[in-house]
Amino acid sequence: MSSHIQIFDTTLRDGEQTPGVSFSFDERLKIAMTLEEWGVDVIEAGFPASSEGSFASVQAISQHLKHSTVTGLARCLTSDIDAVYEATKDAVSPSIHVFIATSPIHLSSKLNMTEEQVLDAIDKHVRYAKARFDVVQFSPEDATRTPLPFLVQSVQTAVNAGATVINIPDTVGYTYPSEYGKIFKTLLDKVQSTEPITYSAHCHDDLGLAVANSMAAIENGATRIEGTVNGIGERAGNTALEEVALGLYVRQDHYQIQTNIKLNRTKYTSDLVARYAGIRVPRNKAIVGKNAFSHESGIHQDGFLKNPETYEIMTPQLVGIHSTELPLGKLSGKHAFQEKLTQLGYSIEADEQKVLFKAFKDIADKKKHITDKDIHALIQGTTHEKQSTYHLVSLQLQFVSNGLQSAVVVLEDKEGHIYQDSSIGTGSILAIYNAIDRILDCQPELIDYRIDAVTEGRDAQAEVHVSLQLDHQRVTGVGFDHDILYASCKAYVEAASQFVSQQQNEEGALS
Ligand code: KIV
Ligand code: ZN
Repeated sequence: MSSHIQIFDTTLRDGEQTPGVSFSFDERLKIAMTLEEWGVDVIEAGFPASSEGSFASVQAISQHLKHSTVTGLARCLTSDIDAVYEATKDAVSPSIHVFIATSPIHLSSKLNMTEEQVLDAIDKHVRYAKARFDVVQFSPEDATRTPLPFLVQSVQTAVNAGATVINIPDTVGYTYPSEYGKIFKTLLDKVQSTEPITYSAHCHDDLGLAVANSMAAIENGATRIEGTVNGIGERAGNTALEEVALGLYVRQDHYQIQTNIKLNRTKYTSDLVARYAGIRVPRNKAIVGKNAFSHESGIHQDGFLKNPETYEIMTPQLVGIHSTELPLGKLSGKHAFQEKLTQLGYSIEADEQKVLFKAFKDIADKKKHITDKDIHALIQGTTHEKQSTYHLVSLQLQFVSNGLQSAVVVLEDKEGHIYQDSSIGTGSILAIYNAIDRILDCQPELIDYRIDAVTEGRDAQAEVHVSLQLDHQRVTGVGFDHDILYASCKAYVEAASQFVSQQQNEEGALS
């Protein structure tokens, strides 16, 4: 076994494929910077050929990061490889991730290609990529459902064409640890190369085995693990990187392997991704869940008080959980607020701080203790409102216990124009959303609507997420407020505004 494992994070690519998750440009940049601080070796920043937005953020991430390798995904298409080249060329260490499916079902039902055609495509595109990148990673998609002889042939073809990183995706989360381990062992035995090859594991969690499979890969020669923060990703998600990092650390006696992960930045990184993704970490989630370090039963509490090691294999401090959070309150001044922003890792311009301080005071009037989570929500909320084409000025509701509800909504655009309209609905939310549709002149379908409380307690702020769909396009919005209906209104305005600005951009491009 190697003594070092590289951590490859794909939160911004595979993680963003989570249904309902769509990071903004600023959020992607902030996540990438946080991943670099966490100690991630390789950041898959996106799939540049898939959209202008992905291209722009991979480019910005490449320009900002100082240490981590930045990579982008490419199909076996020269145009995809060109897009990754253009997007990552300013990175301190650019690389590319080329993939094509190799399993029989993907060949016959998706690609409509023969095995020979797939081998030709691998050879041609890995060579094309190698002419532009020092490091080319190749992935045979659905590797775990690919007959082993053809998998070996595909990997050998990629290696002959210049790939020096081979990633083995368990695309549909189908394999189990001993089977996955055997694939690595076979490849290490059979594939010939003059260059050292890095073998990488990429697992999905459909059977809840992603982390176990990744650990089995390590035991069988993998020296790179791919995954996402909090395990977010398509369907049941990807390997949760924080679990791999802590597993390797806590069981050093067995694995004897180091990563570059700064373990005490784990909770911060997990919280940031959870906030931006709008996906709460389950309470019982290993390492970063709220209950991961709490002891409920009397026997456990008694043992823990006598010696924490009776029931705790790692301390909360190890992963950066501190119980010393000092809440702010109504009487906290500008200075204490500034200190808190710095402590939470924000560097915010003076003008912007004034706006935030005012918003903070508004919350403090309604809520006794303002916690770190409230501050994060405040900043996220104001950032979203600033970026949105329209923002909510006021909302007026009339509620009747038996009948139709009515809402009057007032919005303002970036030029300061005011728009207002009213509508009715069978419930308050429906009345509000109908009024916004009238103002923005669009009628998207509401795909998802979720309310969370930012903190515990009766006076908690509400965090509302909505997903809307119009003409097969999906957008998301988030709204924070003390009042659920106001937060719901903000979330819808942010989401629906994106359709309007897209339409305006298209009209601008045509004229
Ligand atoms: O799961 C998968 O197969 C992937 C590939 C693109 C590597 O994410
Ligand atoms: Zn994947």
